[in-house]
Amino acid sequence: MYEDRIRQPELRQKIMTAEEAARLFRDGMSVGMSGFTKAGDCKALPAALAERARQEDLKLTLITGASLGNDSDGLMAQAGLLARRMPFQADASLRKKINDGEVMFIDQHLSETVEQLRGHNLAPIDIAVIEAVAITEDGGIVPSTSVGNSASFVEQAAQVIIELNLRMPLSLEGLHDIYVPAARPGRTPIPMLNVDDRIGGAAIRVDPARIAAIVVTDSADSPSAILPPDDETQAIAGHVIEFLSGEVKAGRLTPALLPLQAGIGTIANAVLHGLLDSPFAGLTMYSEVLQDSAFELLDSGQLDFASASSITLSEARHETFLQEVERYRSRLVLRPQEISNHPEVLRRLGIIAINTALEFDIYGNVNSTHVGGTHMMNGIGGSGDFARNAHLSIFVSKSVAKAGAISSVVPMVPHVDHTEHDVDVVATEWGLADLRGLAPRERAELIIERCAHPHYREELRHYFRQACKRGGQTPHMLELAFSWHERFRRARSMLA
Ligand code: COA
Repeated sequence: MYEDRIRQPELRQKIMTAEEAARLFRDGMSVGMSGFTKAGDCKALPAALAERARQEDLKLTLITGASLGNDSDGLMAQAGLLARRMPFQADASLRKKINDGEVMFIDQHLSETVEQLRGHNLAPIDIAVIEAVAITEDGGIVPSTSVGNSASFVEQAAQVIIELNLRMPLSLEGLHDIYVPAARPGRTPIPMLNVDDRIGGAAIRVDPARIAAIVVTDSADSPSAILPPDDETQAIAGHVIEFLSGEVKAGRLTPALLPLQAGIGTIANAVLHGLLDSPFAGLTMYSEVLQDSAFELLDSGQLDFASASSITLSEARHETFLQEVERYRSRLVLRPQEISNHPEVLRRLGIIAINTALEFDIYGNVNSTHVGGTHMMNGIGGSGDFARNAHLSIFVSKSVAKAGAISSVVPMVPHVDHTEHDVDVVATEWGLADLRGLAPRERAELIIERCAHPHYREELRHYFRQACKRGGQTPHMLELAFSWHERFRRARSMLA
């Protein structure tokens, strides 16, 4: 049975049901699971563990690559299984538990989690649960549609459970490039010089003695929930493309630009989609997630090569991709998120990073995570890894949310994920502000005039003028800085 997928005959004796494998877990354990923005996540153990937690006291610290699919995060949160969760999530039920203070959520830069584990800053991983396409003759785990933190989880965990997903085609083998930096001190440079370099092996190394169970599954990744481009996201894309065209004209970039990174979500996907109608060619991506737009660009021939840690697609595109892996093989690689997001590599390659803000302020500080300054949305994800180390750090957002009741350009953000020091450009559907080389007072004028929605512009101008009378490098009236958020909290609208 499964000879092509479990290529060490002795390992086939370790096949068991998810319910049997779930009995290996003990209360208080730290668990590392595969899964990155719904791709390559474990399909069976989350449900089996949630079932156990409904029957008895079982609470775990759950660490993943990023968000899980199949409603797993919600299922585990509802069952009371999750005591602590890191480094990212995007599930409505789990979000509620986090904001109710029932699940302790640690919102981390995605490149950092395994470094923290390696440095013993976090409790060690007891059990790693990894979705795989196959286990090789020499004990290599072949991951599926994401790599995430799986390689380091396997390296560090006392026991490993493999979810062998028969739905994932064997053609995925060879798509991955597994490289794990050594412990410090004495670490050598990561030898990534080009986006298409392969610097590691095709599978995750594991001592077969540590494989405690193999659970066979047969289910697809959850489809991504991004919406198609609309007038506003298309306008944002237009501004970003016009800006990049200006950079080419000025001789600061070539028509191949520099390796592109685009964040999760509808807006960043729309910006990449907009590149289909652009004059740029010979493009490359060095990103953490590849959404539908990356495949559109690969198909159009404008994108030469894409490197990421996961592939998160709509249902139709997911199916096509799994049937046609061969068509993309020479132009695609999946890496550990520590490498796709590594500051050293990003600085060397010179990335153009395009991420989405919930809101930004008149000086260019960005809030990507905390609605109203207090309530967790998803998490910082990789946006901080990329923004701080990019050649160009671009943040995009619609100028208003909730049918105009919220302005995404505010006097002062009540939570800062990306400080003004990490933000080169901001754009909304109204326009783009190039902040490079500008002091805070210059930034404010540009952001208000180019990016704010006209309904909110005059009040922002007034705030800025009054604040300037008080002076300062970054003028503010602290008693009014959050008054817009306070107004929304009370009256469900920021409009005066
Ligand atoms: N205040 C409150 N809610 C806001 C808001 C604001 N200033 N701006 C947007 N929102 C709400 C929207 O109304 C929408 O709500 P809904 O789901 O109830 O409709 C939701 O946030 C998503 O906004 P949307 O405009 O559809 O953008 P998106 O799908 O592109 O997501 C982020 C935007 C910021 C939530 C998302 O990009 C994110 O989580 N980013 C952080 C992680 C990251 O950047 N990773 C990058 C590397 S992959």
